[in-house]
Amino acid sequence: MGTEKSLSIIKPEAVEHRLIGEIVRRLEGTGLRIVAAKLLHLDLEKARAFYAVHRERPFYSSLTEYIASGPIFVSVLEGENAISKNREMMGATDPSKAAEGTIRCQWGTDVEKNAVHGSDAPETAAWEISFFFQPEEIHGIHK
Ligand code: CDP
Ligand code: MG
Repeated sequence: MGTEKSLSIIKPEAVEHRLIGEIVRRLEGTGLRIVAAKLLHLDLEKARAFYAVHRERPFYSSLTEYIASGPIFVSVLEGENAISKNREMMGATDPSKAAEGTIRCQWGTDVEKNAVHGSDAPETAAWEISFFFQPEEIHGIHK
């Protein structure tokens, strides 16, 4: 697979619960490197744009209001198989089904407030990263 980038978001309830440090420690523990990061509070319009892929889903309006409800920690992870390593450390979408030792198992509240987001494929990762970061804000090996 080679070196990849993945977008990570620590969602509002996890930021509120002061879990940025714990979650970043887990993500860095996979061997991935943080090559860009910022704290943001999205407005509803930007939240709806980020999750546009889910606009037909029943949870879209609740999800976008939730993501816009407080600050989020957005970062870019880089390394070998960054997308799958990030997803594995996150765990299943529903924290009650997430494997032991994953971020969502330990800190997720429910299927919506599940602590973290991670890109699911190279194409979505590229789109998500460019949604939040300018190229000069990314300090990785591969631009
Ligand atoms: O985040 P992930 O890729 O694991 O799941 P998704 O299917 O892409 O859904 C995106 C986000 O929508 C989830 O992380 C949840 O926050 C939310 N969601 C929800 O509120 N209710 C569901 N039944 C499924 C997802
Ligand atoms: Mg997803």
